[in-house]
Amino acid sequence: LSSRDGALDLALEAAPARVRIGARTAHVQAFNGSLPGPTLRVRPGDTLRVAMTNGLEAPTNLHVHGLHVSPEDNGDNPFVSIAPGDSFDYDFSLPDDHPPGTYWYHPHRHGHVADQLAAGLYGAIVVEDPDPVPVARERVLVVSDLTLDDSGNLAEVSPPQRMMGREGETVLVNGQVRPRAGAAPGERELWRVVNACPARYLRLTLDGQTLRLLGRDVGRLPEPVELTEVTLAPGNRVELLVDTREGASTLTAAPVDRGSMDGMMGGAMPGDGPGTDEPIELLTLEVTGDRAADAGPVPPGPVLRDLREEPVAARRTLDFAMGMGMGGMMGGMRGPGQMMSFTIDGRPFDAERTDQRVRVGTVEEWTLTNSSPMDHPMHLHVWPMQVVTEAGREVAAPRWLDVVNVPAFGEVTVRVAFDDFAGRTVYHCHILDHEDLGMMGTLEAR
Ligand code: C2O
Ligand code: CU
Repeated sequence: LSSRDGALDLALEAAPARVRIGARTAHVQAFNGSLPGPTLRVRPGDTLRVAMTNGLEAPTNLHVHGLHVSPEDNGDNPFVSIAPGDSFDYDFSLPDDHPPGTYWYHPHRHGHVADQLAAGLYGAIVVEDPDPVPVARERVLVVSDLTLDDSGNLAEVSPPQRMMGREGETVLVNGQVRPRAGAAPGERELWRVVNACPARYLRLTLDGQTLRLLGRDVGRLPEPVELTEVTLAPGNRVELLVDTREGASTLTAAPVDRGSMDGMMGGAMPGDGPGTDEPIELLTLEVTGDRAADAGPVPPGPVLRDLREEPVAARRTLDFAMGMGMGGMMGGMRGPGQMMSFTIDGRPFDAERTDQRVRVGTVEEWTLTNSSPMDHPMHLHVWPMQVVTEAGREVAAPRWLDVVNVPAFGEVTVRVAFDDFAGRTVYHCHILDHEDLGMMGTLEAR
């Protein structure tokens, strides 16, 4: 669905749906009955208006992940709760200089986020580049995972799986198991990949093809960077240029070590490890036929803002931690066995409390530390983050992300420009089970 005359108006219903996955019938939850929901295409300066209806049995809401829009009122407001049967009218106005890129949407009602995402509620948003790279075709690849039982219903999730962050047994690309794609040799394609898994990391490779990174989360790079693999934490997106070469290739997600809870509860827990150590085949690309005309050079992209050259108004440290005890029960008791707390700065999420107060018009430096044995991908709503140091080392070129992975027992330093938009919003771990268990804080910009 594409915007016209500066606006895109649509109705989205989150509801139970019956879909075909390969030869199976699956009972999932979906936006407008499809897995993923419709891809929304807008331009910088556009208004996206969504009339959202809740056809589920639990409360829900809508988050436009990564969009730089107001967090207040009917904007990207994470405090809205739409009761079953109710509707809410969202109104997202993108600034004229909104960075192009691949973004996405999903529910964000605290306590239900991981369940609703794992059930199938997600979709892509493309903010068109006013100065696009010419390509033969574009593919939006939404990667998700889920576990179905023998009757095609969503499987129960155990407390240890929630604590580790659930990884579904079946990994889907656009709602299908290992779809096939075809191209002619010498064509240039743009692949927009969204990691819509609640907790799974994706280390992507595409054998036999040359990949160039054109963008990551937010905006486009000054020039594409050749790479052989790229890792997406939950919530991350990448834009890849593929200049096709004859043959068959497989887009594969290699296993990622994101830590474990071993030793945290007096020894290994049954079923606490991520789903699999095997590489997962996501998509097959078959390149055959007559060679296409040369795609030509990629025109240069914008010069990226570098916050290291700007004065810093405040510095703060945020610590992501997992611990034993009552904190977890206060942060969200999710059945017997939930004895672990998921906190930021020692506190589980409280929508009424304001954890960080920032001034509009300032740049801040945040050090994100992780005192737990598992990685936590940190997402800040509304304002993207520039990664400044990683593993104790300065990051050379400006790298702008809206989900930054904070490695187990490690730290990352980012800078954030709170240029515009006043209001209250959240930051959290994008392992969405952790978010639902309390690993989320609030921020107010004034
Ligand atoms: Cu994609 Cu606050 O989430
Ligand atoms: Cu986490």
